[in-house]
Amino acid sequence: MASLFARLLCIALTTMVAVGMLEANGIGIEIGSREVVGEFREFDYFALALQWPGTFCRQTRHCCSSNACCRGSNAPTEFTIHGLWPDYNDGTWPACCTREEFDEKEISTLHDALEKYWPSLSCGLPSTCHEKHGTCSFPVIWDEYNYFLTTLNVYFKYNVTRVLNEAGYVPSNAEKYPLGGIISAIQNAFGATPLLVCKKGAVEELRLCFYKDFKPRDCVMGSTGQSFVLSSSSSCPKYVSLPEHASSGIQSAETTISWVPGDEAL
Ligand SMILES: *[C@@H]1O[C@H](CO)[C@@H](O)[C@H](O)[C@H]1NC(C)=O
Repeated sequence: MASLFARLLCIALTTMVAVGMLEANGIGIEIGSREVVGEFREFDYFALALQWPGTFCRQTRHCCSSNACCRGSNAPTEFTIHGLWPDYNDGTWPACCTREEFDEKEISTLHDALEKYWPSLSCGLPSTCHEKHGTCSFPVIWDEYNYFLTTLNVYFKYNVTRVLNEAGYVPSNAEKYPLGGIISAIQNAFGATPLLVCKKGAVEELRLCFYKDFKPRDCVMGSTGQSFVLSSSSSCPKYVSLPEHASSGIQSAETTISWVPGDEAL
């Protein structure tokens, strides 16, 4: 049985690899080549990566108990946590910085919150590289418990779902929203520019970036000459959708694999 930890952290890698394989221009390819395994140089900033279940759950081809997309009417309806990633300013990031074994007991008191706000949205196999990103958070975060607790706290403090709802960007399978409007709403609320990742014209991921003291900073890197700078326009068209999660049961999930065609404007 996959440990809670494995589902929380390592799922990120497997799902991204899957995305990369499905879509040549997808983020998975870039992520694969931007990861610096075993890098011990101190990171530059944090990215809080949030997933939009309405988009992510469309990838569900089969169900399993670890996949929150399969919770029917209890499936998540707000942005959920994908991870808190220590990144470098040059667009790469460290992974697997220590060989420390993950101990699920250390975070047992956070179990319910993690199940709710940091669920897996796939049935991917856990990676054996434990705490891939989390182990690289030193010297800001030293241990497993504080890594998860800090991530939850940042997530609660910067409620992207609320900001978008209050700006009128509510989940819809019919509406398209201006990408610039979504970015502005986040900028106005948090004072920094987020990074959006889209799949077939739908918002799949939204990242908030933070200095090491967790003050918001821009995600998009300003300097030139970086081969892997991700900008919101790299995968999102000018008008994007924020699909509602069709709370299909396990049976019908099998039949909901096709994408709603999106405007691939860019
Ligand atoms: C975010 O805000 C929404 C809308 O106000 C609320 O329903 C939700 O519980 C909040 N999420 C968190 C994690 O606080």
